[in-house]
Amino acid sequence: RTLDSFGDLAGTRVVVRCDLNVPLKDGAITDDGRVRASLPTLTRLLDASASVTVISHLGRPDGEPNPKYSLAPVAQRLGELLDREATFVPGSPADAAPGTGAVTVLENLRFDPRETSKDAGERRAFAEALAQHGSAFVSDGFGVVHRKQASVFELAQVLPSAAGLLIANELSVLERLTERPEKPYAVVLGGSKVSDKLGVIDHLLPRVDSLLIGGGMLFTFLAAQGHAVGKSLLEQDQIPTVQEYLRRADELGVTLLVPTDVVVAAAFAPDADHETVPADAIESSSFGADGIGLDIGPDTAAAFATAIAASRTVFWNGPMGVFEFPAFADGTKRVAQALTEVEGLSVVGGGDSAAAVRTLGFADDRFGHISTGGGASLEFLEGKRLPGLEVLGWEADA
Ligand code: 3PG
Repeated sequence: RTLDSFGDLAGTRVVVRCDLNVPLKDGAITDDGRVRASLPTLTRLLDASASVTVISHLGRPDGEPNPKYSLAPVAQRLGELLDREATFVPGSPADAAPGTGAVTVLENLRFDPRETSKDAGERRAFAEALAQHGSAFVSDGFGVVHRKQASVFELAQVLPSAAGLLIANELSVLERLTERPEKPYAVVLGGSKVSDKLGVIDHLLPRVDSLLIGGGMLFTFLAAQGHAVGKSLLEQDQIPTVQEYLRRADELGVTLLVPTDVVVAAAFAPDADHETVPADAIESSSFGADGIGLDIGPDTAAAFATAIAASRTVFWNGPMGVFEFPAFADGTKRVAQALTEVEGLSVVGGGDSAAAVRTLGFADDRFGHISTGGGASLEFLEGKRLPGLEVLGWEADA
């Protein structure tokens, strides 16, 4: 169900679930991408003379009020971007008085344990309290549609509901990755843990032409090939699964690119001594068995860039190295650059990868699409059922 299903909203108050879960440092927003992404829907509703009560989570405060996770700075940023006052209501979102101005922002939903409760009855009670804030509900937090939480799932059943413009836009792009993507199709995966990516690797192996592996998870791939990885991140228990992927990729004729060189450091620190070594000889660096791999090497980055440039559809999730430390950001930078050169569709999948490209100075419009959902876009590509979409009438293709 889309916004058009509502008819005339003039004079009504609409509850809008956004994903304003932005990165903060010392109370300041370091990437306001998710706030910006929520603007089209809010502007559309305000232009239709509706008023809005915006709800969101921020971080994982474990069901308790915690000033570190207050939405106050986000409400202020939202007001600046909308160029109108956004009234922030501190305190419990369930007990807050209904808003009176055009834009009201409630406090972090996850300060109430019922938001993420496993008990459907508790979630329903919280959704009913939130429903007091409006007469219609717009779900627009794409980044949380994979979560069965009160403000995502139950609230959509309590009030007349529809998907907002952000969700509609995300789906229109991501469906191009799942429904007959233009070939060659490459998927680049990074980030720290292979265990977070098992579902997506499993699902994508038969569908892609190449799969490129970087980030902390690459060391489990190297270990699966029989190489020593020093003190690099390693998920020992995943080695058999990864060996199975290597075998299946071979059988399916999928090009599975595992790094051939890596940047190894003496310690996990921005100014640590470091060297580039062949991926099958990590412990030959001057740091011996104490070396920690923190980035893909230049040969690997060049090979990845070539594979990306040769593709017509590319999806990327997860940094290639510890991009927050400039000495270990080159691999991520090279991959980001290659994505900007794709003739076809390039998609950056949410969370850390979106923050990475912006931190490294790439403008959003250099990519085909930057998804606001990290986990959500991965689960979408896995073909999983997403509760926050199904409740709005959307059905995954078999
Ligand atoms: C995200 O950052 O991926 C979304 O905001 C969801 O957050 P969560 O993983 O804490 O549910």
